[in-house]
Amino acid sequence: MANSLGNNKRTHDIDVDGFRQSMLSWYAKHQRVLLWRATKKKERNPYYTWLSEIMLQQTTVVTVGPYFEKFIDKWPSVHDLAKADRDVIMHEWAGLGYYARARNLHKCAQVVSEELNGVFPQSQKELEELPGIGGYTSAAIRAIAFGKPANVVDGNIERVMARLYAVEEPLPKSKPMLKEFAAGLADGREDKPGDYAQSLMDLGAGICTPKSPKCALCPVREYCLADKKGIAAELPKRQKKKAKPQKHGIVYWVVNDKGDLAFVRRGEKEMLGGMLGLPTSEWGDVAKKLDKPSKDFITHSFTHFDLKLHIEPLRYEKGMELPQNDYIWMSLSKLDEVGLPTLFKKVVKLMK
Ligand code: ADE
Repeated sequence: MANSLGNNKRTHDIDVDGFRQSMLSWYAKHQRVLLWRATKKKERNPYYTWLSEIMLQQTTVVTVGPYFEKFIDKWPSVHDLAKADRDVIMHEWAGLGYYARARNLHKCAQVVSEELNGVFPQSQKELEELPGIGGYTSAAIRAIAFGKPANVVDGNIERVMARLYAVEEPLPKSKPMLKEFAAGLADGREDKPGDYAQSLMDLGAGICTPKSPKCALCPVREYCLADKKGIAAELPKRQKKKAKPQKHGIVYWVVNDKGDLAFVRRGEKEMLGGMLGLPTSEWGDVAKKLDKPSKDFITHSFTHFDLKLHIEPLRYEKGMELPQNDYIWMSLSKLDEVGLPTLFKKVVKLMK
């Protein structure tokens, strides 16, 4: 069959109506109960959909659950979130990672609250003009919050498509192809677009799992080409990732004569921007020499590099020259209450 995939011929054609029907019936019975989802008794809420989709980028459903609950408890509407103090949002976000998401979350809430009367737009174009909303999130909001046809493709759905169509080309090269296969099943389809998208997500999370897929329980097994070929568990293939570069730095554990610990608010443009953190040196390619050699260090993995931070304990004395300025002093007994990125939590755990 001709399509826009050029030489990548579709491996087989699927009965789209039959496939969708099977997915929707399965979802009606087996969908996960998730706080942000509409139910018979709980109407769709675009604020919940948006908030959950931002949190779920690069983060699992299990991790997101308690954060989502805390956010809607503290800020029940987009107006409440818009009016919130940015530092408080960052504090509540601590541990979810990818902190630019939290900064954009606040900016987006402010635009929707102040310029759009608290109403999320429904068109892809208007959605994607909002801070932090890209192709995936706009499609998810359109389908889930507004019931509009949209091609929602996350990592779970890529995996389902790779198996359904037995795509042996490795990720990430196969992404456009997988998206196109997903589009063939979603574009223009008015029958429950939100349920359909989430049925694929739930299938990917519970049945069409990365390892040992439970094909015997799959509601769409009859459509799956990888299963017919006996290669479902081997797909999707992935291009070998290059080893990440290693960066080094020093993290300062500065305690004053009251026993308080020094923190800094990290700069907007830095990694973990806007978050509270311990003072550190710059993070560079070579290990710096410590003033006082210390065996203590922590390691942390970011998307594009691994970081090794050596811990240098310092006792603050008046007039002392410090590695960074503008300290926020905090009692050691309050450490559990401050929202720290995981990287700094590791330091605290080691030092306490
Ligand atoms: N992952 C991203 N969005 C999701 C959703 N709405 N339901 C389940 N998992 C998801």
